[in-house]
Amino acid sequence: MRLVIPTAEWERAHREYLNEWGSSRVIPSCFNLHDFVNYESYLEEMMKRKDGYGNWLPFSSYFLVNHKDRILGMIDIRHELNDFLYRIGGNIGYSVRPSERQKGYATLLLKMGLDKCRELGMDKVLITCDEDNIGSAKVILNNGGREDKSEVDEDQTVKRRFWIDLSSKN
Ligand SMILES: CC(C)(COP(=O)(O)OP(=O)(O)OC[C@H]1O[C@@H](n2cnc3c(N)ncnc32)[C@H](O)[C@@H]1OP(=O)(O)O)[C@@H](O)C(=O)NCCC(=O)NCCS
Repeated sequence: MRLVIPTAEWERAHREYLNEWGSSRVIPSCFNLHDFVNYESYLEEMMKRKDGYGNWLPFSSYFLVNHKDRILGMIDIRHELNDFLYRIGGNIGYSVRPSERQKGYATLLLKMGLDKCRELGMDKVLITCDEDNIGSAKVILNNGGREDKSEVDEDQTVKRRFWIDLSSKN
């Protein structure tokens, strides 16, 4: 299992992953292709955002890929926090494709993502989840999350907030 950076060679696998989501909102949103005329323009936009511009903070995104080059999950690492990310969004968003859930992949994906955060020099990360997202809360706790005060989003969703200290291996 490995993390790979989205490039043109992953277009087909990326689209196949998104097809499994049907009409539900794609998480993390940076993997959504809806607003782009083609894959090339999607990749160009992500390249621009990568180092931060306008309201976009620097970020890194990866696919979790198995030995058959099938994308099992996706992770988005925001290198810094602004007010919104500090209260609601956190440093990291992730998902596992619907057909591969509850097999431990998100726990592994976050673990591998935390290693990337260490490589980036981050010393702690904030990860949030909706109050009713039991699976995601477990993924965070499995990776050493310590719960902080919850916040309420503008649509009244309660966001649980967890910190993971990266100075010690969990
Ligand atoms: C949340 C999500 C990432 C979990 O992925 P996953 O691969 O199923 O997670 P894991 O298999 O690593 O499961 C971790 C733990 O959560 C439990 N779990 C997973 N989904 C669950 C669910 N729907 N209900 C209850 N428990 C659940 C697992 O049984 C496991 O428990 P354990 O640690 O006690 O063994 C996945 O459901 C998903 O992609 N959801 C949509 C996007 C999303 O919500 N992303 C998180 C945003 S904060």
